[in-house]
Formats: sequence, structure tokens, C-alpha cells
Amino acid sequence: MGFGNLIKKSMKKIYFDHSATTPVDQEVLSKMLPYFSENFGNASSMHSFGQSAASAVDNARRAMATAFACEPQEVIFTSGATEANNLAINGLLKGLATLGHKDMHVITTIVEHDAVIEPCRELVRTKLANVTYLGVKPNGVIDLEELEKAITDQTVLVSVMYANSEVGAIQPIKEVGKIIKKINAHRLAEWEKIRVGERGAKPLPIYFHTDATQAVNFLDCNIKALHVDMLSMSGHKIYGPKGVGALIIKEGTPVVTILRGGHQERNFRSGTLNVPGIVGIGEAVTLAVANREVNNKQVSDLRNYLVERITKEIPQAVCNTDIPNATPSHAHFSFLGAEGESILLALDMEAGVAVSTGSACASHTLKASRVLLAMGIKVEDTHGAIRFTLGKHNTKEDVDELMNHLPGIVKKFRDMAPAY
Ligand SMILES: Cc1ncc(COP(=O)(O)O)c(C=O)c1O
Repeated sequence: MGFGNLIKKSMKKIYFDHSATTPVDQEVLSKMLPYFSENFGNASSMHSFGQSAASAVDNARRAMATAFACEPQEVIFTSGATEANNLAINGLLKGLATLGHKDMHVITTIVEHDAVIEPCRELVRTKLANVTYLGVKPNGVIDLEELEKAITDQTVLVSVMYANSEVGAIQPIKEVGKIIKKINAHRLAEWEKIRVGERGAKPLPIYFHTDATQAVNFLDCNIKALHVDMLSMSGHKIYGPKGVGALIIKEGTPVVTILRGGHQERNFRSGTLNVPGIVGIGEAVTLAVANREVNNKQVSDLRNYLVERITKEIPQAVCNTDIPNATPSHAHFSFLGAEGESILLALDMEAGVAVSTGSACASHTLKASRVLLAMGIKVEDTHGAIRFTLGKHNTKEDVDELMNHLPGIVKKFRDMAPAY
């Protein structure tokens, strides 16, 4: 794509694509800047330059530990959520294989980001594990009974995202955590019933991973309350920098590194630490948690206003986001009989409004969205899909400006579609 140069120069630009990425907060940027030039030391160096960088990393690690209710050493900084997900999935399965475990089974969902789906496919290709992909109900949420039924004695990992990037559906992470906790306790109790001399090896628990990349802005991510062993997140979705993220790994989870090198991050993740990025993510997560309630209210009020106006003013606009159970930012619509790509480009060029047809990463392909299909939406209705994701800097005027253009644009493309 990239029609930016065709946009009229004087046009005010409006951004409704906060699920793809967010602008870096000024407070975050100003904390980061000194670590590019004045305090440029390598956090692994023993001299004062290095120690100054290491101390900034320690502060960021503590800020992350506060946000996720974990210990500072349980925070492993990565290059983003893609790497965090790969480390969680491949790192755990590799770790268990090294301990001699075989015929392992993993459960995830069909609505995960590709950064979970692809590592899971890799597990099957490399014969490390079999994978079950859970479907979702029409509201985009997994069925807990289906999850419980899918668990076998071989299941070692359950990975369920916290909030969906496309439609914003929130998964019942705490309930999943409770189910896993109950099954783990049962496995252990059954083993303890066996007489000491006759017992085999202690049963392996099921580990629970959640990709919380789209949740951190909006939802409580206390890993203890959620009963989560591993949690992935990313800086650029929370008004922090790109190229930095983290995997929270509960102490004792047998993850091994997937990147061999300099043994940084307690050997979980080799590579020179991205000090400015880490400082930025620490500040961004602190602000996200401190302002969560206020931002959630503001963003959801605006999102609800947008949903109300679209529903009233544009016929045959189906809201695919189950608003009561979604992140405050999301409003995903199918404009039946119109092409999503055409609407996106027209909004960009005619109105200066940025939206998405799906997740930013999947929108390079014109294939029907796996998430929408899993929710039971007809293939033809997935083509007119547009995702609006609002952010804390959006205003009512932004929504009004969008609505000055959207009804006409949708009508224009419907009129051009002979079948409609
Ligand atoms: C749910 C989810 N997981 C993972 C990612 C990948 O994150 P990153 O860009 O930090 O690699 C994204 C980005 O869109 C996402 O939405």
C-alpha cells in the first residue's frame, strides 16, 4: 500500500489504528533520549558507563515487576511480543524435551496472532508436540468446556491470548488459569496416592501462557491473580517504543533460550540489551497502569459513540465486536457488499483517516481473516471488514470527521458492486 503521498497536504490526519501501533508518549520519549547518546553504555559492561545503563535497566525491570505482580528477575526483555511468544512456546517445549519428555501436547486457539500460530506449527513440523487449536463462539471467545475436554495427560502447555487484536474479544484468562490449576493439583494428588516405592516421575504440570500484547493498556495483568506462568507483551502497543517487549516467566518454568550468544537476561535471551527501549517500556507500562481507568473510560465512551453513529447512519453495517466483552478501543465492522480494502484506501486518501482491514500483519494478504471465519462470519462478509481501534488522543471531532466521509464512501463502493 502506501498512498500517503496522494493525501492532500492540508488534510488533518486522524489515526484509528491503535491495535497496529501507538505513538510514543512524550514522557516516555524524554526518559529514553539520554540513553541513546549521553548514557550510551552497554548494560553488561563493568565500568561506570555500563553501570549507569544497568541501573536504568534495573529500574525498568522493577517497574515491569510492579505492573505484572511478579519478581524483577521474572521479567525477560525481548525485541517484542513476537520474540516473547516464540521464547514461551519453543523455549518451554525445547526445555521439556531436554529433560526427556516426549509425545507432548499443546493447546492454543485458532484466533491467536501469527506470532503464536507459527511457533505452534513449527512444533508440529519438528515433531516436538501435537497441537490442538480451539475454536471460538460467535463472540470470539473460547468455550471453557471445550478447553477442558481438549486437555490430555500429555498436555504440557496451554496458550490463550488475553485480548484479540482483530475484534478485541477478551478471553477468560483467569478462568482458564483456574482450570489448569485444578488439573495440575489433581495430577499431583493422583501421583501422591501411589505408594512411594511404586511412583514414577512426578507428573509434569500444564504451563499456562498468555499473549497479553493487546491487553496491557486496558486490563489487569497481575500474573498471580490470572494464574499465568508466562505472559508476553510489547512496547509499541502501549505508547512505548517499537523493538522492545518482554516475556514474564514465573520462576521454575523450565524454559530454555532460543537465541544462543552472550547469556544476557539470566541466559533466557542473549543479545546486548536495548537500553533506551527498555527504559521506554518501563515508563510506558507504569503510565499505562496508572492511567488505565481514566483512559479506558475515555476511549470506550468515544468507541461507543462511533459504534452508535455507524449503526444508525450506515445500513447493513454489522458490528463484529461484542462490545460488552471487548477492549475499550475496538470497533470491528463488516460493511456488507463493500470491499474493506477500498474503504480503507478511500478513507486514507479522501479523509486522511487511518483504519485497518484486520490485524496489521495479516492485512498484507487478501485471504479472509481466520479470526472472523472462526467466529462464523460468512466469507463474503469478511471482505467488507474494517477495524477501528481508538486511542487516548482521539476526540469526538475525530469521530465526527470520520462520519462526514464514511457513509458516502461505503455507499459509493456498494453502488459499484453489481451484486449488491
Ligand atoms: C496479539 C499480538 N501478539 C503479538 C504481536 C506481535 O508484537 P510485536 O510487534 O511486538 O512483535 C501483535 C502485534 O500486532 C499482537 O497484536
